[in-house]
Amino acid sequence: MKLGIEGRRALIAGSSSGVGAGIAAMLAGEGVEVLVHGRSTKNAEAVVEGIRASGGRASALIGALDVPREVDRLAAEALATGPIDILINSAGATVSARSWFDVPMESWQRQYQFSTLYAVQLIRAVVPSMRERSWGRVLNISSGAAFKPMAVHPEYSAAKLALHTLACSLSRELGDCGVTVNTLISGLVMTANTQALMRGAAQVHGFTETGEALERRVLRELWHSTMPLARAGKVEEVAAAACFLVSAHAAYITGTSLRIDGGGAGYVN
Ligand SMILES: NC(=O)c1ccc[n+]([C@@H]2O[C@H](COP(=O)([O-])OP(=O)(O)OC[C@H]3O[C@@H](n4cnc5c(N)ncnc54)[C@H](OP(=O)(O)O)[C@@H]3O)[C@@H](O)[C@H]2O)c1
Repeated sequence: MKLGIEGRRALIAGSSSGVGAGIAAMLAGEGVEVLVHGRSTKNAEAVVEGIRASGGRASALIGALDVPREVDRLAAEALATGPIDILINSAGATVSARSWFDVPMESWQRQYQFSTLYAVQLIRAVVPSMRERSWGRVLNISSGAAFKPMAVHPEYSAAKLALHTLACSLSRELGDCGVTVNTLISGLVMTANTQALMRGAAQVHGFTETGEALERRVLRELWHSTMPLARAGKVEEVAAAACFLVSAHAAYITGTSLRIDGGGAGYVN
């Protein structure tokens, strides 16, 4: 099925690796021109090169999202090269595994900027012109941790939850103007970081399995997962859902949240 978004232009915050990179590659494969964002020029350029090598159109956008004035600069730089039709806020991964009273106030504030406020800044910068053009898509990437938080990294779970309410209120503000706003709830995804985390945990516990067998054992025995699908999601599986939500076919979906989590209805268990 073609997604009906060929020729559109997308800014994907946090697409120099992981889920965002997967979304960027998939959208580019649909004929969307993508702005690949990250802090690392090397990583962003590698994603851009991969897309170009497959015949897609992409360019890199470099800057931090935890510094408000940098976010404004990034938005201005993105808009200076053309209109943004699709905004995907995928940055915002977990930064620590600290427990409640070990998280200093500065980390709560930084996480809120990095997971939530940057998305608000980018929305404020690009959505008014989507509305003027009567077409646009905004998608936030959240986490099952927003709904089923663990004792650790409470600042991450709390900041992620805010993405859902702001998307819902924005969809009401925008009404029937051709711009939709949604949030994707991701379960555990097998990114490079997740693989490293699993390998580390397996090493500590002396597990000798590899591949999927190791994944299932770590999930079941160490992370107490009760997910029906009993495995982490693949980057492409999350990316496919994201691409659908920003496609022409999703014009009647707004203000909602879609779970892509192997049936886990939560982060790990
Ligand atoms: N992976 C999972 O299991 C999982 C589960 C649930 C939800 N999610 C959500 O899915 C999204 C993507 O996660 P992921 O696992 O794909 O993450 P990832 O592989 O760590 O990628 C994170 C992206 O964000 C960028 N980034 C990180 N810190 C930044 C900062 N301070 N300023 C600007 N950019 C920054 C990174 O760019 P640089 O490295 O170039 O700075 C990279 O492009 C996140 O919102 C995360 O919460 C992931």
